[in-house]
Amino acid sequence: MVSLNINGIRHEVQADPGTPLLWVLRDFVQLTGTKFGCGAGLCGACTVHLEGNPIRSCQMPISAVGDAKITTIEGVSGKASDAVHAAWTDLDVPQCGYCQSGQIMSAIALLNQNQVPSDADIDGAMNGNVCRCATYVRIRAAIHQAAAMMRA
Ligand code: FES
Ligand code: FES
Repeated sequence: MVSLNINGIRHEVQADPGTPLLWVLRDFVQLTGTKFGCGAGLCGACTVHLEGNPIRSCQMPISAVGDAKITTIEGVSGKASDAVHAAWTDLDVPQCGYCQSGQIMSAIALLNQNQVPSDADIDGAMNGNVCRCATYVRIRAAIHQAAAMMRA
């Protein structure tokens, strides 16, 4: 039994301590907004926040989480989240959508730290969030728009 704080709710999970967090989110807690892409830390589809920092949940055994707060796409909130969701909608960022919860979680984590990100800051923060539909140009534009909304 492992106890996890997910989106502000305590979950007691009957899973092996070595189980990756992604599996627990999707298969034990039914939070399927976080996606399985590669399972190897290479695509970013599984990105969630651990104490506000973006992590690849496919690479994080639940035994390593401890009491840290896990936030998924279903539970993320606040000014950066509102701005990112609005900008993503305004600019029609998603295509197939598969990578987008991971993209959004990385973008929110960036904007919580830096509300005037340069292109280089954005490329650095989003590095590793792969999009097979190549929405990168719109993602960058949406992050700039969300940052401007936060500063307004
Ligand atoms: S599924 Fe975790 S990085 Fe690809
Ligand atoms: S929108 Fe299709 S993989 Fe990114």
